[in-house]
Amino acid sequence: MSWIRKLFGLVKNADPTEDEDGQATLVVSGPAAPANLAGGLPRFSGLANEIEADRSYSRELSAGHRLGRAYPVSQPVSDLRQFAGRRELLTSVIRSIEERRMHVVLYGDRGIGKTSLLHIIALLAKDARYLVRYSSCSASSDLDSTFRAIAEDIPLLYHEKGDPTSAQVESGKTLADLFDASRLTPAALSEVLDGVSGTRLLIILDEFDRTEKPEFRREVAELIKNLSDRSSKVQILIGGVAENLSELVRQIPSIRRNLLGIPVGRMSDTELAEILTNGQAISGLPIDKIAQDRLIGSANGSPYLANLIAHQASSRAIERGGKTVTATDLKDGLGMMAREQMLRLPERAQQQVEKLLAQVPHEQLRAAVGHALEHFGHVSLKQFPALKAMADGKPAGDISLAFEDDGVPLTIWLRLAELEN
Ligand SMILES: Nc1ncnc2c1ncn2[C@@H]1O[C@H](COP(=O)(O)OP(=O)(O)OP(=O)(O)O)[C@@H](O)[C@H]1O
Ligand SMILES: [Mg+2]
Repeated sequence: MSWIRKLFGLVKNADPTEDEDGQATLVVSGPAAPANLAGGLPRFSGLANEIEADRSYSRELSAGHRLGRAYPVSQPVSDLRQFAGRRELLTSVIRSIEERRMHVVLYGDRGIGKTSLLHIIALLAKDARYLVRYSSCSASSDLDSTFRAIAEDIPLLYHEKGDPTSAQVESGKTLADLFDASRLTPAALSEVLDGVSGTRLLIILDEFDRTEKPEFRREVAELIKNLSDRSSKVQILIGGVAENLSELVRQIPSIRRNLLGIPVGRMSDTELAEILTNGQAISGLPIDKIAQDRLIGSANGSPYLANLIAHQASSRAIERGGKTVTATDLKDGLGMMAREQMLRLPERAQQQVEKLLAQVPHEQLRAAVGHALEHFGHVSLKQFPALKAMADGKPAGDISLAFEDDGVPLTIWLRLAELEN
């Protein structure tokens, strides 16, 4: 069988065969990789093994709503055609995983694109025949429930105890069958994961900030330490909202050598322009140059805002039967978003928006809310003295100010963008 057919997963059935070195391999049916996977993205250079079985990242996007596909606003990107920028970041994650065998944490602000990155890394890793398992954490996540679910999704075939010809493997047993009934500990888990063979396993734990159990964070750190000490074939990739690495994963000193924290920051104007190029290719609706430049300025480095504003402006163009999205569509779209955003705010927060817009010179207000949007909602009176309208009689000085609601800076940002455009 040609390596190209194997690479693109064109084999439909489990197929024991021989590779070029005459070694027995097992090709498991898998989805075809997107045709443009090779296009311009950094790649894993090698194949972790020949086996691929995970289907979770190859979902065909459902038909309909062209604009929704062109500018996804409520879902992370999981299709390469929608994914823009982030080349350097992808390169460094891939190198860290593949060459340095490190465990990686992607951290950054809400909506900055962490999950989208994790989805694309998963696709690229699967293309290199890694076995990839993805888990999205919740408030109640703990080591036992998270890793049992992951292990239940890994056939025993990938463990040294799983002889491919054995009845156990044929009867659909999984790694979870190697655990006893007691609560999983990092030691018991690494013992089993240590036996993973014939592939490299990438476990993705996304939305890691959501867990409310400190022991989960501690135990994952301990697991990473154990896996590193044993030169395991298993690597962990974590994503979550945090300003810095230690906020997300505890016990950093003991795993510092094995864990790389990579901040996910704002996107450059060129990267945002790529979002618009991709979106226009999917929607078939061009955005004129002036509207594009203004839209990029209004997005403030946020892929979420770029998609949201482009979606709104394109909708306005379609509603009026236009063939191109213009600066007027952009202004109308921004106005509509600002109004919607305002309605979502509690009354006190709405009052704060009006007060700040009325009392603070708009150029200074724009700088302050732009800063807040980039710094987890933080602003200081020392840095932005014009915000004293927010201080409510507190003494002036270097006091850190909090908005009435974390939706206030975005609402003001959109209102100002509408006025300026
Ligand atoms: N590289 C990208 N190219 C195009 N769109 C992107 C990209 N990254 C993120 N987006 C868009 O930005 C929005 C937020 O992305 P995503 O959900 O990945 O962020 P997140 O950091 O995981 O958010 P949260 O902190 O809420 O989990 C989504 O609508 C997604 O479509
Ligand atoms: Mg996310």
